[in-house]
Amino acid sequence: MLLLNIQSSPRGTKSASIAVTDAFLDAYHVLHSDATIDTLNVWEENLPDFDQEAIGAKYKGVNKEPMDQVETAVWDKIQELALRFQQADRIVLGVPMWNFAYPYKLKQLIDLACQRHMLFTYDGTEYGPLLKTPRAFVVYARGGTYAEDSPTPASGFDHQKGYIDFWLKFIGVKEVQTLVVEGTTWGGKEKGEEAIARGQKEATRLAAGF
Ligand SMILES: Cc1cc2nc3c(=O)[nH]c(=O)nc-3n(C[C@H](O)[C@H](O)[C@H](O)COP(=O)(O)O)c2cc1C
Repeated sequence: MLLLNIQSSPRGTKSASIAVTDAFLDAYHVLHSDATIDTLNVWEENLPDFDQEAIGAKYKGVNKEPMDQVETAVWDKIQELALRFQQADRIVLGVPMWNFAYPYKLKQLIDLACQRHMLFTYDGTEYGPLLKTPRAFVVYARGGTYAEDSPTPASGFDHQKGYIDFWLKFIGVKEVQTLVVEGTTWGGKEKGEEAIARGQKEATRLAAGF
């Protein structure tokens, strides 16, 4: 069993999303000692910019046209990233809320890896998924809180969960299990630590059915 563990916080040991996904992975590993974890931190992965070369490589790669050296290097990295998704039996993903959405480095990973013929198909009319991943587990970490009866209701302020859940299903993840961990920062240190501890406990419980 191979788990692709995508971290999108740059905060290392201070990160709430990593603390909770790590609790999930530790619990999973206790139950499945043969599981291998492929950790991909979007901040440490040296992801290439999706610039003119990358766009050139994308179209040449799809059309199987010759590429220059820079385009080849970007295309190799794109294929390597897509392969890590294709090989994964399960995906675990930690997502910090940034400006009510997700960090741009995570979107950079998505833009690089999510290529036609690699993670999805398109026949001119319809899209189809290419992954056959039964499950993903996603932790959404938020500094604030988003209760519907608060000044920041999720229905108006949450632009984090909808896209990521959609994207995972779009590429072929059958079931996306989510855990929202709110109040990690804005309510002060003590409340933040309590929220993370609750998240870790719940993640440990959810790992059993994964
Ligand atoms: C650039 C930036 C933007 C943020 N924007 C929001 C936000 O819009 N809403 C929110 O609730 N928290 C926001 N936060 C707080 C983080 O969501 C919070 O610290 C969370 O725990 C981050 O996940 P991490 O601990 O895994 O890095 C922001 C933090 C940063 C660094």
